[in-house]
Amino acid sequence: MPEITRRRLITAGAAASGALVAGQLTTATTAAAAPRRAAAADPFTLGIASGDPLTTAVVIWTRLATDPLHGGGMPDRTVAVSWQVAEDQRFRRVVRRGTAYAQPRFGHSVHVDVRGLRPGREYWYRFRTGAHLSTVGRTRTMDAAPSKLRVALASCQNWQHGYFNSYADMRDQEPDFVLFVGDYIYESAPSTSSVRVHEGSGEPVTLDQYRNRYAQYRTDPDLNAVHAAVPWIVTFDDHEVDNDWAGEVPQDPDKQPHDAFVNRLTAAFQAYYEHMPVRAAAVPNGPHIQMYRRFDFGDLARLNVLDTRQFRSNQVTSDAAAKDPKLTMLGATQKQWLINGLERSPARWNLIASQIMMAETDNVAGPGKNWFYDAWDGYQVERNDLMARFQNIRNPVVLSGDRHLTMISDLKKDFSDPKSAVVGAEFVGTSISSNGDQDVDAFNAQWDPLRPDNPHWKLIDCHRGYHLFDIDRDGIDAKVRVVGTVRKPVSAATTLAGLRVDEGKPGVHTV
Ligand SMILES: [Fe+2]
Repeated sequence: MPEITRRRLITAGAAASGALVAGQLTTATTAAAAPRRAAAADPFTLGIASGDPLTTAVVIWTRLATDPLHGGGMPDRTVAVSWQVAEDQRFRRVVRRGTAYAQPRFGHSVHVDVRGLRPGREYWYRFRTGAHLSTVGRTRTMDAAPSKLRVALASCQNWQHGYFNSYADMRDQEPDFVLFVGDYIYESAPSTSSVRVHEGSGEPVTLDQYRNRYAQYRTDPDLNAVHAAVPWIVTFDDHEVDNDWAGEVPQDPDKQPHDAFVNRLTAAFQAYYEHMPVRAAAVPNGPHIQMYRRFDFGDLARLNVLDTRQFRSNQVTSDAAAKDPKLTMLGATQKQWLINGLERSPARWNLIASQIMMAETDNVAGPGKNWFYDAWDGYQVERNDLMARFQNIRNPVVLSGDRHLTMISDLKKDFSDPKSAVVGAEFVGTSISSNGDQDVDAFNAQWDPLRPDNPHWKLIDCHRGYHLFDIDRDGIDAKVRVVGTVRKPVSAATTLAGLRVDEGKPGVHTV
């Protein structure tokens, strides 16, 4: 293993990749590899990643792009990419290797579903094409019967609102995986008044435009470093396509006719797949992508990753309409899949990754209520049905995003009744950067009057950061990790608060 590459992994695993040193990897690839010579410029500008870890398998990813912000810059032909997975970071014990073919129709992305690995251990991986060698990535497989699990919950990384400063701390915490619950990119047009400016000249609509937007995000060194160090489990929310989209309905149907929006969905999902370390099950079929899926971590935890965008009814515009029993968030098929997965779960902890908040937010101080209709509050009957079912589920814990706030709540069987049973807990992660640095006093002035109306809230806060969970048989210890700023220079991350969910006792409390 070239020393230079190993050191890169240890220092940061930044976006840059290493040139081949003295042809050493050539001997390590299969004889059949002999890739055709790729472009002379570095094709590993978007870094590497791993994801969807199982006990004996993990996906490793890269996307070749010599000119990442302008369509990728790759030739219009398939390019061979050799890959290796080793048990050591010097690649002395290579246990899997092969050649993947980066195709123009997938934006020259590479997704290798590496199988036959040993459970519960670290692995290192790298790619080569032509004379170019990627950085070295670290990943891990899941233990077949883990006694503990460390998970980082992240969402909402708006390039324009700030730097992704939280990721350096997240990497240092060495979670078993990062759970990213949406808004990996924002589709908003470039704004010169921002901390940093989106590429392009408007909102992305075409495949090329979405590719360029993802590519810009993937050039962020902190994002790339955490991708190179930890496997991710991802799902999308609205901004990977269009603000507040629902099914095949865009934010502004007046400006985006149905046919145009279906084409936009097709482009957005294609680019999403191309940039995420996910399995082939997520290869889009036109304007459809399969993202809801399940992960089991022995009998310790089951993770149900939801898709709360593709199958939902359009958002309502009044509290009365939000109570319409015909509204669905999940669609009938996914809802039944979730219920089955909860009711038949072998696991002690039943985690649900929901892009959007499940607990109630009553936005009216005093009598009466007013809800955010894009979140589960806008789909009351289906949410309340889940709450009722949670009473019979072992330790349900919902992990959400979207709000750009930390909101940690008890889940109640009936939010309209303060005496109603607590049936679970929810952690709404804040944001990596979206909405930028906040004025804490202004936040408190706005939100403190609402606290009596929302007694299920255990903690609300406006700092940027992420949540870190240590899960074992007795409980979940949660830390709200926050950064002082999303600008530069970086300030060290700190723990704003610690919370705990005790096994067998629905709800969450501060510690
Ligand atoms: Fe967001």
